[in-house]
Amino acid sequence: MNGNRTAGEGKDKGMSALKILGLAGSARTGSYNRKLLALIIDRLRRQGIDAEVFEFRDTPLPMFDQDEEAASGLPENAKLLKSKILEADAVVLVAPEYNSSVTPLLKNAIDWASRQDPTTGVGNVWRHKVIALASASPGAYGGMRGLIALRPVFQHLDSLVIAEQVSVPKAHEAFEGEGLKDERTSQFLDAMLSRLVEVATIHQRATVGSS
Ligand SMILES: Cc1cc2nc3c(=O)[nH]c(=O)nc-3n(C[C@H](O)[C@H](O)[C@H](O)COP(=O)(O)O)c2cc1C
Repeated sequence: MNGNRTAGEGKDKGMSALKILGLAGSARTGSYNRKLLALIIDRLRRQGIDAEVFEFRDTPLPMFDQDEEAASGLPENAKLLKSKILEADAVVLVAPEYNSSVTPLLKNAIDWASRQDPTTGVGNVWRHKVIALASASPGAYGGMRGLIALRPVFQHLDSLVIAEQVSVPKAHEAFEGEGLKDERTSQFLDAMLSRLVEVATIHQRATVGSS
């Protein structure tokens, strides 16, 4: 990394500032995972990274239905989600676990974004996408088992999920203002984000170099 530059600044010829997209696996008002995602986005922006959230509350996706897809193609919000993932250098997913697995909201979004848009021909946008996973739960495991269930999904989709992940247990008492009470968890989060930025930068450089 170059000395005084922030991670968001273009470093080499042809490279641009990193873009990171955030997705939450819960659209609930007062969601701990949306709160954790907001904290992550804030930390990324402080590094000069162009980070934004795709809010499923504002842009809901219908439950995937292959008959509907065959009749009408992809819904507008699925096309929008695909374009946001496509233009991002990396995606951060912050999701609770439901019954030790992926929430239906998130799995539905992942499935829509994996489908080919017949109008543009754009297929699985998760392919070669750099991804970081995090979770929060009022429970003792912090939603960690949901992240374990997510990894094989992204392996199938040919994504590049970084090894570092963060789970926030006892989420109902884990936040203090906009931050996390537990210093160690906060440091793990910073370490995960540093790694995500590092891998996304290397990946962007390789992609620019090969085009
Ligand atoms: C259907 C359902 C299943 C759940 N299963 C689990 C679970 O397996 N492990 C867990 O820690 N919490 C579980 N929870 C509790 C969620 O972690 C909790 O509702 C959490 O606040 C949801 O995330 P959010 O705050 O971001 O909306 C479950 C909740 C629901 C609605």
